[in-house]
Amino acid sequence: MAAATGSERWSLAGATALVTGGSKGIGHAIVEELAGFGARVHACARSTMDLEECRRRWAEKGFDVTVSVCDVAVRADRERLMETVKATFDGKLDILVNNAALLIIKPPVEYTAEDYSRIMATNLESCFHLSQLAHLLLRNASVAGGGSVVHISSIASFLAFPQETLYSVTKGGPNQLTRSLATEWAHDKIRVNCV
Ligand SMILES: NC(=O)c1ccc[n+]([C@@H]2O[C@H](COP(=O)([O-])OP(=O)(O)OC[C@H]3O[C@@H](n4cnc5c(N)ncnc54)[C@H](OP(=O)(O)O)[C@@H]3O)[C@@H](O)[C@H]2O)c1
Repeated sequence: MAAATGSERWSLAGATALVTGGSKGIGHAIVEELAGFGARVHACARSTMDLEECRRRWAEKGFDVTVSVCDVAVRADRERLMETVKATFDGKLDILVNNAALLIIKPPVEYTAEDYSRIMATNLESCFHLSQLAHLLLRNASVAGGGSVVHISSIASFLAFPQETLYSVTKGGPNQLTRSLATEWAHDKIRVNCV
């Protein structure tokens, strides 16, 4: 008897996922991986053009992916995104991937107040607020294992790299946010992890 392949053993059929920053890089790969295992995925980013191009290519590949524009640094955008997700997935969400982030490379004394606000809002506040907004949807998760939140952190959350002071601080935050939310939400059957 032939051994089962990975895709036979693993299936996300029936699962739903939201991936922030899904139009490029790691987020794009996460969208394709989740959709490849059969999940319905919603992806967001700031560029309408990039998202449309991705959506077209994903449709050609047979992936079930919807997209919408969202700047995760903006509170009202995050609220609108979660309303869209709620409507798209009938009030349920199985997987939230907080991936979108920004890197500003500068010596510490050169960061402006705007740099500080923007990187904090994009990399850290968005992880907390989107998790908070998704809580009810994740509690309604339809997959057997319950809801799942994944934060994308960085080695820079543990180590100091030149001119990455603020980025490092914003990546240390999700590490601790993960521990706290995992503890708070275990009784809701929501797992919270950080990669
Ligand atoms: N690449 C690495 O070597 C590395 C290493 C460690 C950790 N990471 C982490 O991995 C994650 C992905 O990194 P990456 O290198 O794949 O990034 P990337 O190639 O720069 O892609 C970033 C994605 O996020 C979107 N994005 C950026 N700012 C956004 C915002 N304010 N609101 C919504 N979407 C936004 C971008 O689209 P738009 O520009 O259209 O918004 C794009 O789709 C990040 O959390 C990063 O910190 C990366």
